[in-house]
Amino acid sequence: MTIQPDSLAGTASATGVHGFEVFSNEAVADGVWRMRCHTPVASLIAPGQFVNVAVPGDSAHILRIPLSFSVAQATSQTLELVYAVVGEGTRRLSCMRVGDTSTMVGPCGNGWALPTHEGRALLVAGGVGLPPIVACARMLAEASVGFDVIVGAQTSAKHVEYLLDELRRLAPDEGCDCARKVLVCTDDGTLGTRGFTTDVMADLIADRPYAQAYTCGPTPMMAGVARLCAKRDIACQASLERMMGCGFGACSCCNVALVAGGYALCCKDGPVFDAREVVW
Ligand SMILES: Cc1cc2nc3c(=O)[nH]c(=O)nc-3n(C[C@H](O)[C@H](O)[C@H](O)COP(=O)(O)OP(=O)(O)OC[C@H]3O[C@@H](n4cnc5c(N)ncnc54)[C@H](O)[C@@H]3O)c2cc1C
Ligand code: FES
Repeated sequence: MTIQPDSLAGTASATGVHGFEVFSNEAVADGVWRMRCHTPVASLIAPGQFVNVAVPGDSAHILRIPLSFSVAQATSQTLELVYAVVGEGTRRLSCMRVGDTSTMVGPCGNGWALPTHEGRALLVAGGVGLPPIVACARMLAEASVGFDVIVGAQTSAKHVEYLLDELRRLAPDEGCDCARKVLVCTDDGTLGTRGFTTDVMADLIADRPYAQAYTCGPTPMMAGVARLCAKRDIACQASLERMMGCGFGACSCCNVALVAGGYALCCKDGPVFDAREVVW
């Protein structure tokens, strides 16, 4: 099920167009869906990389949908995508049924890197920035890096409960309070602390040292996380979002302005960037 078209020549060696077959697709929170599919990408993709998914059924919509993943199981060739239905493409994605097939370009971009300094990591996720943060947590757990996670959503119904449970399971048992490791907040106070992830983070970093932060979510949130990290000299990796066309560096529509001047491509140079290098 793998095609390697000429148009992808020169991109990361494993990037290609791969088939996928849906084996489940259901709502997991208010406006948020989980699709699980079989695809060879599952054995190629690394935490923080993404796929660019073609949704079948409407020839007027030619653009693929860039999506991160929460789980990739190489042995069963299973990929799990968690996505918010926000427009026509994701609405049609939510209509795909068990047994439906299509293609995805992947693995795309560069993912999370393990911390280069010893110390604790802090993960900060907002909204549907959560899937790549779950993949990051699994990467850190496998490398025995201790971490805490802050997960924010607008309201309780938008929190993806099973992913919160997965994070609690992944957070290593260090004999301390689990609630301190997975901190949940909502804008309206209906679950966890009332307030933004950055409010929770400001309190947390005031009394606990961190070597590395990882963040994915709305751009203003990630800008706030980057500012807090800069003040405390905490290294910070951020997974950026841009509107995307090709997903592999051919159309130049996903520019990210750099502090050093010039632009990087979110799809090819990112989506994960060193937060200090990005103009927020
Ligand atoms: C690298 C990457 C990883 C992503 N991972 C996830 C994920 O795991 N889960 C998830 O729910 N979403 C993710 N997104 C966002 C997702 O791609 C968009 O929500 C989706 O493309 C919207 O398509 P649509 O046709 O439904 O909406 P459209 O009708 O195209 O647009 C609806 C709304 O979504 C906004 N939008 C469209 N495309 C993007 C985009 N690429 N980035 C940000 N906003 C967009 C539009 O401005 C508009 O407000 C990711 C985006 C990128 C770039
Ligand atoms: S999406 Fe085409 S260059 Fe990035």
